[in-house]
Parts: sequence; C-alpha cells; structure tokens
Amino acid sequence: MSKTIYILNGPNLNLLGKRQPEIYGHDTLADVETTCAAVGKDVDLSVKLMQSNHEGEIVEMIHDARENAAGIIINPAAYTHTSVAILDALHTFDGPVLEVHISNVHKREAFRHHSYVSQRADGVIAGFGVEGYALAMRRMGTLLG
Ligand code: DQA
Repeated sequence: MSKTIYILNGPNLNLLGKRQPEIYGHDTLADVETTCAAVGKDVDLSVKLMQSNHEGEIVEMIHDARENAAGIIINPAAYTHTSVAILDALHTFDGPVLEVHISNVHKREAFRHHSYVSQRADGVIAGFGVEGYALAMRRMGTLLG
C-alpha cells in the first residue's frame, strides 16, 4: 500500500484562484490536489490535502500526520512568518517536511523573508507558482523511495 503525504495549507489559501491572481495564479486548491494526486501515482504516494484558516487546526493536522502520514508538504501561508506553534508541531513529526510557497517570498515585503517553518523543513520551494507542490511531491518520492 502506498504511503500517504499530507499537503497542509494555511490561511486564505481556500481562496486560491480568486485571491490576488496576479501573485498566486488562477489554479485552485482543488487543481493542486488533482495535480499532486497524479504525480503521486507516478511516485507511489497517496495524498491528502487539507486547508485551515486557524493556527491550532494546522497544529492538530500535524499531530494527526504523526500517526497517519509518511511526509508533510506544507504551505503555512501567513503563519510561515509568525507561528512558533506550527514550528514546534513540525518538530514532533519524524518524516520529511517540505515547505512550499507559491510566490517568491524573497522578492516581496521584508516580513515575508523570515520563515519559522524553514528551521524544520528539509527543503523549501518558493516562486514556482502552484507547480511548486508537484515538485515537492517528486522530491517526496525521492526521499521516501
Ligand atoms: C505564501 C506567501 C506568504 O507570505 C503569504 O502570507 C501567503 C502565501 C505563498 O504561497 O506564496 O498567504 O505562503
């Protein structure tokens, strides 16, 4: 049976496709899930994509991943830059963690340049649009293969 990857998404990403499309593009989170599931078939991984606008819920998703996921791909959105709680939760997870940002956060406002999550992430992808999620899936295939 293939291993499961959790793809976790933070606040406002439920509006992906509608929200600032000049920055984040026109694809929705459902499109991301479809693409990642297709890549998953290639690399023998199944995916479960989740999104929450609430920090504590994301912490709980990470706790759930401890029992039920082999790896985590996470776009913590704005919580990237603020959340020690999400970093601490990720430190309780033993498998690979890949951080994805749709936009190139380093080209944007200074407050987006620091990521708490990067202190735990095994790899970071930024500025590849939603393709970043698919790239992260490929990398998961390598790390877990
Ligand atoms: C983001 C970048 C964050 O700075 C921002 O708060 C987001 C999305 C990205 O995917 O580019 O909501 O994580």
